Amino acid sequence: MKVVTHIRELKELIRMNQRKQHSVGFVPTMGFLHEGHLQLAKEAREQNDVVVMSIFVNPLQFGPNEDFESYPRDIKRDQCLAEAIGVDILFTPDVKEMYKEKPSVTVSVQKRTDVLCGKKRPGHFDGVATVLTKLFHLVEPTKVYFGLKDAQQVAVIDAMMEDFFFDIQLVSVPTVREEDGLAKSSRNVYLSEAERQEAPTLFQALKRGQTAVENGERDPKRVHQLIEKELLKTSGEIDYIGIYSYPHLEPLQSLAGQVIIAIAVKFSKARLIDNVIFHVPESGEKHV
Ligand code: PAJ
Repeated sequence: MKVVTHIRELKELIRMNQRKQHSVGFVPTMGFLHEGHLQLAKEAREQNDVVVMSIFVNPLQFGPNEDFESYPRDIKRDQCLAEAIGVDILFTPDVKEMYKEKPSVTVSVQKRTDVLCGKKRPGHFDGVATVLTKLFHLVEPTKVYFGLKDAQQVAVIDAMMEDFFFDIQLVSVPTVREEDGLAKSSRNVYLSEAERQEAPTLFQALKRGQTAVENGERDPKRVHQLIEKELLKTSGEIDYIGIYSYPHLEPLQSLAGQVIIAIAVKFSKARLIDNVIFHVPESGEKHV
């Protein structure tokens, strides 16, 4: 595995692979790798000649009171994990390499961001879209891999790829979970022992909502109430509960089609997010 910190070096490797007409699978991350990230890399390994992973904690996507400074980092451990899973090129630029100075141009996302994390974290998805635009131009991948744990991110990037004519195939990968259902996240290390015990309630609440819909409930308000009741059993503070169409993230009067239920809960030092996405038969459509 080649570890590169400079754009010039990365570009040389990319050009070399292009001459060999190799397909490139790209896994953008902010590091502190866990099995969620590694699942993306594994799929990229299976589907491409070359796998590129980036590790870059992107300041542009953190708000002023968010955890940019304290975001967990362990580059040595990440290097070992990336190499073991079969990453060929690990790109680990520092902030100066990616942003020489205050950017002259940034990407501004116009749709799919007025709800959920987009509403709670103003500017967050502009920061994500900006850094990914830069990374896509540097890596020029054939396919790029994203986790559905961050389903709004997938929806936003999907729209950006279409609007900006990126000739890259987006592969979305189901959420990897702990045995008790908690979605794997770099931020789980911030949970106290007691909070860690409570954290599986997030997924249980989502499943509760999904089951109600599968049993015939179509009123999003009722589903919202059910989920809220479950989440109130934890010591965390509910940041949002959202039920929308997916990937358009539009409100629904009555649940039908592809639906996302997404939640965010703030514990003392960690804000956790999770979601379920599933198909709700239109009235008249057979339930399978
Ligand atoms: P990060 O939070 O490090 O996540 C990198 C990728 O791993 C994302 O696509 C995310 O959805 C995926 N991922 C995280 N936890 C997962 C899990 N439990 N199961 C499956 N996939 C999971 O998301 C970012 O970084 C950044 O916003 C980034 C895209 C790198 C832009 O800076």
